[in-house]
Amino acid sequence: MRKIVILTGAGISAESGLGTFRDAGGVWSQYDLAEVATPEGFARNPALVHDFYNARRANALAAHPNAAHEALVRLERDWPGQVVLVTQNIDDLHERAGHRHVIHMHGELARALCAACGAHWPAPEKMSASDPCPECGTRATRPDIVWFGEMPYDMDLIQRHIDSADLFAAIGTSGQVFPAAGFVMQANAAGAETVELNLEPSELSGMFDIRREGPATRVVPAWVNDLLASA
Ligand code: APR
Repeated sequence: MRKIVILTGAGISAESGLGTFRDAGGVWSQYDLAEVATPEGFARNPALVHDFYNARRANALAAHPNAAHEALVRLERDWPGQVVLVTQNIDDLHERAGHRHVIHMHGELARALCAACGAHWPAPEKMSASDPCPECGTRATRPDIVWFGEMPYDMDLIQRHIDSADLFAAIGTSGQVFPAAGFVMQANAAGAETVELNLEPSELSGMFDIRREGPATRVVPAWVNDLLASA
């Protein structure tokens, strides 16, 4: 049975009320990326960075999964082959919809990371740099988020999945951030069929075999229905 690898981005959570990054009014038009999403910004002003992610954690907690997250749960449950979900999102809406296996390549709001020893633990709702690490006791707590200039999580695993994919789908991502933006090229090279589901054409639209345009809550359930009907 065919193996499906799915990459999701901020667009899948947009209709749950979580802002995207690069659309008009998006997160990066309101905040300076260099100050809140780089290791250098954190070193300069940890309190500012924690405030930013504490606010995003509160927003994510108040949000609910939408029909697109739910459709992917159906696909994971009912597809007779393997479904691998890789997300760039740091919210937990895939999990809260019921998705069992999610690879969070850019980290998670729900986890804390010790900048001194690398330990991970569940994030409290409000985090601060002076929270002691439960393993080493150092007060160097940061959000477990992959910042610009850092290596995303699970890259070897993701690359192996893409190399053996029959179908690669990108949902709600602008294709402007590497390495995720390179996945479609890798999938094409591996001989997978590639499909983009996005509100509008992205930077990378020309690289996909198939495009389905529209809001995720409409196009993702319809795509999943078509896939399951063809299985
Ligand atoms: N349905 C489908 N797609 C949507 C919707 C929607 N309702 N709303 C917006 N989109 C699309 C936009 O057209 C855009 O192409 O989602 C995409 C969102 O793009 P970005 O804001 O750039 O988000 P993303 O691609 O996830 O960003 C990648 O950038 O700053 C970093 O680490 C952050 O993980 C993030 C990475």
